[in-house]
Amino acid sequence: MTTDATPQDSGRPARPPAAPGATGGGGEGGRGSVTFVGAGPGAADLLTLRGAAAIGRADVVIWASSLVHPGVLDHARADARIVDSAAVPLEEVVALYEEAARDGLDVARVHSGDPALWGAVQEQLDRCAALGLATEIVPGVSSFTAVAAAVGRELTVPEVAQSVVLTRLEGGKTPMPEGETVRGFAAHGATMALFLSAARSAQLQQELLAGGYPPETPCVVGYRVTWEDELVLRCRLDELAATVRAHRLWKHTLVLVGPALDAEGKRSHLYHPGHFHGHRRPDPVARRALRSGGAS
Ligand SMILES: C[S@@+](CC[C@H](N)C(=O)[O-])C[C@H]1O[C@@H](n2cnc3c(N)ncnc32)[C@H](O)[C@@H]1O
Repeated sequence: MTTDATPQDSGRPARPPAAPGATGGGGEGGRGSVTFVGAGPGAADLLTLRGAAAIGRADVVIWASSLVHPGVLDHARADARIVDSAAVPLEEVVALYEEAARDGLDVARVHSGDPALWGAVQEQLDRCAALGLATEIVPGVSSFTAVAAAVGRELTVPEVAQSVVLTRLEGGKTPMPEGETVRGFAAHGATMALFLSAARSAQLQQELLAGGYPPETPCVVGYRVTWEDELVLRCRLDELAATVRAHRLWKHTLVLVGPALDAEGKRSHLYHPGHFHGHRRPDPVARRALRSGGAS
């Protein structure tokens, strides 16, 4: 069943004009539009300005109350229809898209984090295309960068890790494509962000170790990061399962693993005085030093 709830906050903005270049039919019997908005990992002020504007234009705002902060609805028009998608199947959301196509409505579909990552967005985009709806994706702050920010770490420390693998543990409800395994990715020793995997933390730890990370590899476990009840824990890889279990974490949890999480920052070439590019000439002495000994 679709849960409709129009918030009572009369301070919400009245209908603004469509932004220049905005998609959609504008609610006047045109073809309608759906804008997929990344709401960010939790805290309502991590929504982008573009995302807020899309929500502010929308005739219909569809959001998942289980994953998206209610504060993002403050940007919705006072007369917007607000639909909580948390308990409804895709079919009911598609019925709203059909209505938007028929009546030329602008819909904002608000997803947690960035819609491009585990957002079930592709199947919606396909249906929107079939309905002739204009679509746009507004990127959002993903939870993996929010967890890195929470511990004040860069995930790509020069000469330590220059790649970030975003993945999840095999064996969940959605099968993994052949060749995509945590163990296989772990063999690269780069930084990894594990989504949707905390419920099987023992298997996760075992696969990461089997892939070749040493037992002392630093990990960060982030639960509902940037929400009011955020929990951020640091541990070694061989303590990962015990840490997750001790705090009874099984959902809304992301694990970062890799040597970059406690490595000393090495100087990058980019800001070295000996490095040059289209906007900066090199200092000749620093250039010679850089070429002979690397950035220091
Ligand atoms: C369906 S995926 C959605 C990911 C989202 N699109 C993103 O970019 O972060 C849900 C998973 O993302 C992670 N996640 C999302 N928000 C989180 C948060 N605030 N703190 C920790 N993990 C989070 C968890 O691994 C959770 O199981």
